[in-house]
Amino acid sequence: MDDLLKKIKESCSCLNKRTSMRPKIAIVLGTGLGSFAEKISVKDAIPYSEIPGFRTSTVQGHSGKLLFGTLEGIEVMAMQGRLHYYEGYSMQEITFPVRVMKEFGIRVLMVSNAAGGLNPEYIPGDVMIIKDHINLFPEHPLHGPNIEELGVRFPDMSNAYDKKLIAYSDEIDKKFDMGLKKGVYVGTQGPTFETLSEYRYFRIIGGDSCGMSTVPEVIVANHAGLSVFGVSVISNVGVDANLSNVTHEEVQQNTLLAQDKLALLFTEMVKKCSNDF
Ligand code: HPA
Repeated sequence: MDDLLKKIKESCSCLNKRTSMRPKIAIVLGTGLGSFAEKISVKDAIPYSEIPGFRTSTVQGHSGKLLFGTLEGIEVMAMQGRLHYYEGYSMQEITFPVRVMKEFGIRVLMVSNAAGGLNPEYIPGDVMIIKDHINLFPEHPLHGPNIEELGVRFPDMSNAYDKKLIAYSDEIDKKFDMGLKKGVYVGTQGPTFETLSEYRYFRIIGGDSCGMSTVPEVIVANHAGLSVFGVSVISNVGVDANLSNVTHEEVQQNTLLAQDKLALLFTEMVKKCSNDF
């Protein structure tokens, strides 16, 4: 058996032993968004360091635990903290948890990130539904021999962010008058924030937000046949008039502005998705 397949199965069997929960929905909590985990009635929390094959996040604001619990009575699992390419991990390492989630029985993956705003109408604290992405990472997570058991060689990406799930978020937006934005996320390797010219370039090629994560996980989730829902929390704005010094602390601070909105959106999304299984 392929080495990666073996590792996925080993990791999955560890989870099967450590929790009796069998959720169908997984949530990835990005920078500064880990406090959403407080909304989950957590039954089991497993540090990444105790799961075979999982690497630990080195970034401040990423706690590095896999949570199993319920949200409004519905079983979910959540990655409190994620891994980034800029930390020095390989594409395979940062996307490994997605592979394990699929093997574990997850059907829907909800991802969140803190992102720079490119659309001049955005302000810090805005929540943007990701309708599509542009991959500017220097390496592709599916580079190399394809493992047929994991997915097809040439995965379709025309529904990378599931249209049905986006339609659910439209309904939630309307019902709760949330003022959600909708746009295209540009994924880059980081760890530098962008120069003004780079922000402009990302805008010209069609981006509304940009960040250093999400795209590798979403590609692998699509390869694995998962339905994906993605959200950017706008933490700073990189357009001409407003460009100022960006710091990680500011990014973390500004994501707090969106915590309540994000919690409401994810909770309502989980409720809607649970009717599909
Ligand atoms: N650029 C890239 N990644 C980010 C940004 C940004 O401006 N803000 C938060 N994550």
